[in-house]
Amino acid sequence: MKARRKGVAANSKRTPTVRRIRPAITPVPRPSWPGLLSPPGGRPGPASPPPSSPAASASSSAAAASSTAAQGGAPALDALGGRPVDLAVDLGRGLVLPNPVTVASGPFGYGVEVVDLADLSRLGGLVTRSTSLKPRSGQPAPRMAEVAAGLLLGMGPQNPGLEAVLDRCAGVWARWDVPVILSLCADSAGELGEAVRRLEGEAGIAGLEINLSCGGGGRGGVIPGLDADAAASYVAAARRGTDLPIIAKLTAQAPDVRAIARSVEHAGADAISAINTLPGLVPSADRSGPALGSVYGGLCGPAIRPIALRVVWEVAQAVDVPVIGVGGVACVDDVLDFLAVGASAVGVGVAALADPMLPVRLADELADACRALGARAVRDLVGTALPARPGPPSTRGAEWAR
Ligand SMILES: Cc1cc2nc3c(=O)[nH]c(=O)nc-3n(C[C@H](O)[C@H](O)[C@H](O)COP(=O)(O)O)c2cc1C
Repeated sequence: MKARRKGVAANSKRTPTVRRIRPAITPVPRPSWPGLLSPPGGRPGPASPPPSSPAASASSSAAAASSTAAQGGAPALDALGGRPVDLAVDLGRGLVLPNPVTVASGPFGYGVEVVDLADLSRLGGLVTRSTSLKPRSGQPAPRMAEVAAGLLLGMGPQNPGLEAVLDRCAGVWARWDVPVILSLCADSAGELGEAVRRLEGEAGIAGLEINLSCGGGGRGGVIPGLDADAAASYVAAARRGTDLPIIAKLTAQAPDVRAIARSVEHAGADAISAINTLPGLVPSADRSGPALGSVYGGLCGPAIRPIALRVVWEVAQAVDVPVIGVGGVACVDDVLDFLAVGASAVGVGVAALADPMLPVRLADELADACRALGARAVRDLVGTALPARPGPPSTRGAEWAR
């Protein structure tokens, strides 16, 4: 937490972390946004949908509006004729996000650290840093390494423990408009259940996210997100202890994410978020060992976006609960891409660390994109790229099969 605040302080004499990492996560502009008006500050958008799809008719009305503008009329930014866009996202069990752009677990800590840097009330949701029942000190320094198109993080689930977090933050969250989703991590399903039961009667928590990349509950002590039974046991333990909405956060490390997704849905998850960081390694500058104190780090940023899009694509076809796409979101076209492959909402991770105002801007730009596309509700853009019938899984290795 401290390091991030120092990184963005205006008068800090330290090398500002956020400025250093910005080039690694800044979106690369695409050459054109076919048939649509370019969104402010965003890269150009996805390829045109097939002519028969709902997005195609929305796209053609936006194109018509655009051509009116090109013929000398007023700039036609609104194919809806001024009607409002419905941005709300229903994640189930009473958790309705005001818009689909959330901040993913981690970059904003517990929110209280960034109140002066971002207008939290305009976020779709804020997922806290993962918290365990007991305090955890995290990994030894160095904890960050910049890599092409991303960042390698070796922090571990450092946190002051659930009691301290509730003491310091729960009362503040209760006064906020933004839905605060508490991320929990645990070494076992039993420990998670205990943490969840401790939350009874706490105001200010809109939902829980279960970090399935953390803990040793899988077969042979591997992380629960790799094992369908272990993942289900975590979610079931949380489900038994609370009526709060539960989001299960998957890892792309699982060989078949569809099996894990079905398993957590069956165990009572109301929504699924995907993905967490992916393990990577870089050597130190003098190549005498690994750069990070933790040896391995979690890779995040644009480098992992196609993996996250693939996972959302597969999970959205496997389950009926809403999916939150996380991984490399840095501009509005990334948001549109995630919606197209089946995400109902997105989580902004490391890009929010570099630019804390980005998530709010993305929500505004998404509303503009909906208007340009003629979409009255953001849910109209969900799943437009998905096949009519479930397609083959990535485990089949389709790119090598022909
Ligand atoms: C500084 C930082 C801290 C993070 N802490 C957590 C965490 O506590 N729990 C968790 O589930 N994910 C954590 N993540 C992972 C993000 O929530 C997200 O899944 C991942 O970074 C991929 O998204 P991105 O590419 O947009 O960063 C963290 C990410 C960052 C950048």
